[in-house]
Amino acid sequence: MADLTEKVVNLAKRRGFVFPSSEIYGGFRSTYDYGPLGVLLKRNVMDAWWRAMVQERDDIVGLDAAVLMAPKVWEASGHLATFTDPLVDCRNCKERWRADQIGDTCPNCGSHDLTEARPFNLMFKTHVGPVENEGSVAYLRPETAQGIFVNFANVLQTSRKKPPFGIAQQGKSFRNEITPGNFIFRTREFEQMEMEFFVPPDQGQKWFEYWCEERLRWYTDLGIPAESLRLRHHDPEELSHYSAGTADVEFLYPWGWGELEGIANRTDYDLTQHAKFSGERLEYFDQTSGERYVPHVIEPAAGVGRSMMAFLLAAYDEDEVAGEARTVLRLHHRLAPTKVAVLPLSRKDTLTPTAKEVYDLLKVHFMCDYDETQSIGRRYRRQDEAGTPHCVTIDFETLDDKAVTVRDRDTLAQDRVPIERLVEYLRERLSV
Ligand code: GAP
Repeated sequence: MADLTEKVVNLAKRRGFVFPSSEIYGGFRSTYDYGPLGVLLKRNVMDAWWRAMVQERDDIVGLDAAVLMAPKVWEASGHLATFTDPLVDCRNCKERWRADQIGDTCPNCGSHDLTEARPFNLMFKTHVGPVENEGSVAYLRPETAQGIFVNFANVLQTSRKKPPFGIAQQGKSFRNEITPGNFIFRTREFEQMEMEFFVPPDQGQKWFEYWCEERLRWYTDLGIPAESLRLRHHDPEELSHYSAGTADVEFLYPWGWGELEGIANRTDYDLTQHAKFSGERLEYFDQTSGERYVPHVIEPAAGVGRSMMAFLLAAYDEDEVAGEARTVLRLHHRLAPTKVAVLPLSRKDTLTPTAKEVYDLLKVHFMCDYDETQSIGRRYRRQDEAGTPHCVTIDFETLDDKAVTVRDRDTLAQDRVPIERLVEYLRERLSV
């Protein structure tokens, strides 16, 4: 499907996954809002990550640090000095571009009259408090990771963990990208899911390899075909200022391979820098061996928008049901925004009370939708397009046999299930 991106973008807008931000004012510079289905998908992606990284492990704990941090953090981390992209201006049409992305020709007007490249810092600057001067400058964080490093000692003390152990965090990050684009793939405001794994210095390489495999598996477990994923190791000249080795988990987007997540060996760079700038000791003291060391850090850092885009692209399918074309999102059950749709066969008053009862029974267990508009066929199509794994239909027989028909999104199989067994039946199939 050559126009797969277009189809997914259209579906995302049509069905309320993603809206352009401030749309009634013409949108705002590659920012997006997540609609009723999008916010559920986004939460499910983040919950699946939290579950794999925190809930199911006993060596990782969570954190939720502030977006605004002391400006010294960004001095220590190196972001003030080096978190830059090379920027060029086209003297002809005045557009600005990333020098490394365009060569010597302006993509807008074709002119070769470009300025010399100069470093452009990607951090958003703001002022905190009522006075706007040098002393009130603050930055919106460009990665969530630094909130973890500056809390290393707090977490170590309160959680009683010892290396190897990790701290996980999800949250908004901001980068004044020169060229955002490809829908929610590259935006200026985005959500990250990052985990810093602190290990004894001689175990860095071992854990780097472990996390590369582990993170790749997370995507395949959630339904992305293995052939659409690959691990790409960075060349030395590509490495970030803090990294001794990085591998990207890449997804085969319709426009080519693109980064989903980066796994970096940050060594002891960040803790050492923060110890130097803050004057605090950021190290681990092993009471049994008497050993004292600055842990090395392995960091899997993923983006929520990018993985949502990949999950949507991988799930999008078109097939035919009873001679009619249908669009279906074959999302993993755990990611599907709505798990169950309750659909009375007709809008007759006789069916509504029972249908509402079934809806009330299910909605405390699963994210459900209730829909009694249009024909049943059209309602099935709507649910298929939203990726809903199961539709529960209440028909006239239900009033007598106290059973409903459950339709499976993928196999289209229909089971007759007694209402009293419905929760158990759905729970077994949804594994949520
Ligand atoms: N703490 C390390 C770090 O931030 P990164 O590779 O710059 O590393 C990690 O970012 C992930 O965050 C990327 O793999 C991507 O998924 C996501 N990300 C980064 N910049 C983004 C942007 N402008 N829009 C959307 N996602 C972005």
